[in-house]
Amino acid sequence: MDTSDRPATPAPAPEFDNEDSNRSGNRPFTDVLRVNLQRRSLMKGGVGLAVGAGLLGRSPVAEALGRDITGPVHGRGTLNFDAVPVGRADTIVVPDGYRAEAAFAWGEPLRAPFPAYLDGGLNSAFDQRRQVGQHHDGVHYFPLGFGTQGSSHGLLVMNHEYIDPQTLHPDGPTTGADGRRPLEEIDKEIAAHGVSVIEIARRGRQWSIVRGAWNRRITGATPMRLSGPVRGHALARTRYSPDGTRTRGTLNNCASGMSPWGTYLTCEENWAGYFVNRDAAIPREHARYGIGAGSRYGWESRRRRFDASTRADDAAGDFRNNPNTYGWVVEIDPADPRAMPVKRTALGRFGHEGIVFGKPRLGRPLAFYMGDDATGEYIYKFVTRDRYIPGLARGEMLDHGTLYAARFDDDGRGEWLALDIHDPAFRAAADAAGVHFADQADVLVNTRLAADVAGATPMDRPEWGAVDPRSGEVYFTLTNNGARAPGDTDEANPRGPNPYGHIITFREDGGRNEATRFEWDLFLLAGPPADSVAPDGGSLDADNILASPDGLWFDGNGLLWIQTDMSGSQLAQGPFGNNQMLVADPRTRVLKRFLVGPVGCEVTGVTGTPDGRTLFVNIQHPGENGGSDWPDGNGARPRSATVVVTREDGGVIGL
Ligand code: FEO
Ligand code: CA
Ligand code: CA
Ligand code: CA
Repeated sequence: MDTSDRPATPAPAPEFDNEDSNRSGNRPFTDVLRVNLQRRSLMKGGVGLAVGAGLLGRSPVAEALGRDITGPVHGRGTLNFDAVPVGRADTIVVPDGYRAEAAFAWGEPLRAPFPAYLDGGLNSAFDQRRQVGQHHDGVHYFPLGFGTQGSSHGLLVMNHEYIDPQTLHPDGPTTGADGRRPLEEIDKEIAAHGVSVIEIARRGRQWSIVRGAWNRRITGATPMRLSGPVRGHALARTRYSPDGTRTRGTLNNCASGMSPWGTYLTCEENWAGYFVNRDAAIPREHARYGIGAGSRYGWESRRRRFDASTRADDAAGDFRNNPNTYGWVVEIDPADPRAMPVKRTALGRFGHEGIVFGKPRLGRPLAFYMGDDATGEYIYKFVTRDRYIPGLARGEMLDHGTLYAARFDDDGRGEWLALDIHDPAFRAAADAAGVHFADQADVLVNTRLAADVAGATPMDRPEWGAVDPRSGEVYFTLTNNGARAPGDTDEANPRGPNPYGHIITFREDGGRNEATRFEWDLFLLAGPPADSVAPDGGSLDADNILASPDGLWFDGNGLLWIQTDMSGSQLAQGPFGNNQMLVADPRTRVLKRFLVGPVGCEVTGVTGTPDGRTLFVNIQHPGENGGSDWPDGNGARPRSATVVVTREDGGVIGL
């Protein structure tokens, strides 16, 4: 009685990570668009495009933007290797003196009975629940043991953002004569999503999976607990959890982060595409996220929780609210394989790309920075109510605090706008916009709407953030925005259209996590030499041209690793070659290409051992449009995998 007879709706959009559901019309800078960029001094404060280039001259774009760039370039810096050229080979290329090997690929056995990976999509759903998932993305290394031991043995925890049904199944996805997809296929797809906790150990140079008790798969079906203001709320009640305290699964886990207390934080990004709502009227908490009559994989044809249409008399009798239990940051404790993952609702509901915390200060609140990756969405910050005390801090710190959205002003200043029903300015803004929120849970379920009414700045698709361990400055990639009109730019998003993306950086007033004002600047404008600004103020060149920056991570030595997610024509026709990873030293402003990935992949997710001698880099969907058999070769199906990077001499990477 409870299965749909509607035909499965096949995936409509191959470009699954480029959604635009911001219809708010938020364009707070429309009245200042014609501000002469020259008016603003980008030089103050010492961040961004502030130093260097005196020897190089200004790039054409810097010239057009009127950036008056002076000062010396500080030599070659710490990046003591020769940049890798752009390339289109179906392999991993790293600098001379470095070594790269693929490991931990999709399908590798993790849990008993350790089903071996079979080429040709021949593994079952049962197997997949015990194997590494597909489409590797955000990743973090948690050391087991201390000191050098911790750099030889640890838990690699990684996201599996989505799937490629073509490689997952023997003959790609199928649909039965009744219009429904086979349950086995759907369950395998659900199992290939989520998170892998992988115990790994090094012997010599070789890292391999340990078949131990730490290994865990969290999938699109794993039971999870809701915490924070939305827990138990009417908008979270479902047939699965009539009291609104639980849900099943995490989906489209893109980037990730860790907490200061050593848990893994995984972020739900383009989850909306997994649900349908075929009601005549779509509620705001679905519409603003892009939920409609079609889904990406047609899971609702067999698994009713993906159908959010109204079917019962009240919410406890159907799954109308199930999409409200997605779009969160999920906390996973890798040290406790039996612990139920927790969706931390105080951090807001949107297309979470990643999460990174500001420098923890003893006795002060913590700050967590997050991007909402869709066209014209926002950058957010969560400030904890409770103060940070190492050893006492734990997940409950994420349940109480204030969520803010960022407004970037044209004078290089910015303000954090509280999305808090008890905040007078927020209430006034909501009233002025004619928007009613019943309570803070309603605000959080509708985080995008709350940020709309607060007047946050629509950004060019915020992806990963990273915090400089030395300065505390926060960096964010803005991957691209082909839809930004020439007359719709602002100083923080200065190009319209912006096909290449840029990186922004900001510094909290007084270096305080809880500051409500900040100073911002641009770190680089990506693109070809003629349409780019390098960190040193010159143009990007053969050593460092890039487009669509996405993954971002500071290593322990203060080097900033930048990964690209070019797709379509940019990969096929651009001068950038395959997707790549670069590394910048923010002190010297030097930027060099360090790694080029195989054909058709995205390079996304990077972490390393505490000693800085091993880097783990994730390669997602090699051969997305054919042309790759990486990493297995010999015509095998391509597989997402982790690349283990070491130096030939065993030294610290990048120095
Ligand atoms: Fe999943 Fe925004 O990349
Ligand atoms: Ca991404
Ligand atoms: Ca991306
Ligand atoms: Ca991707």
